[in-house]
Amino acid sequence: MGDNNQESVKYELLDSSVKTIIQKAQAIREKAYCPYSKFAVGAALLCEDGTIVDGCNVENVSYGLTICAERAAICKAISQEQKSFKCIAICAEMEDYFVSPCGACRQVLAEFNTGMEVYLCKPNNDIVKTSVTKLLPLSFTPNWVSFST
Ligand code: THU
Repeated sequence: MGDNNQESVKYELLDSSVKTIIQKAQAIREKAYCPYSKFAVGAALLCEDGTIVDGCNVENVSYGLTICAERAAICKAISQEQKSFKCIAICAEMEDYFVSPCGACRQVLAEFNTGMEVYLCKPNNDIVKTSVTKLLPLSFTPNWVSFST
């Protein structure tokens, strides 16, 4: 599979740090709290200093309060004083498709790095690579507003 927005990549050919975040995303997915959808997602961020921060989706009986795995990972990272992210791996299981971040998560990822590489993966190590800018072109980011730091 391949187009301008995503390319298939082989797990064996990836950098070891990327392999590690893929493994972490696969592992944390097992911890997802998703009693309503039964759709477990795991995410793992690779920070500039090599730190890895993971997260899983956390659902709620009032459905709309659900927190996606990507945003769970970002919130955890910020509370650990990490905010420079090189890439993120996102793991979910849908036979014929790769699960891609929802619109809200794309915006939250863009807050920190539009150039962030995004690895969409499955438990069996099938992987496609994309980026935040490909997922959210023409994004609204902190440099657009005067109150940003
Ligand atoms: N979900 C994520 O955590 N990340 C995604 O990229 C897609 C969707 C979660 C939200 C919800 O708990 C479940 O998957 C079904 O939508």
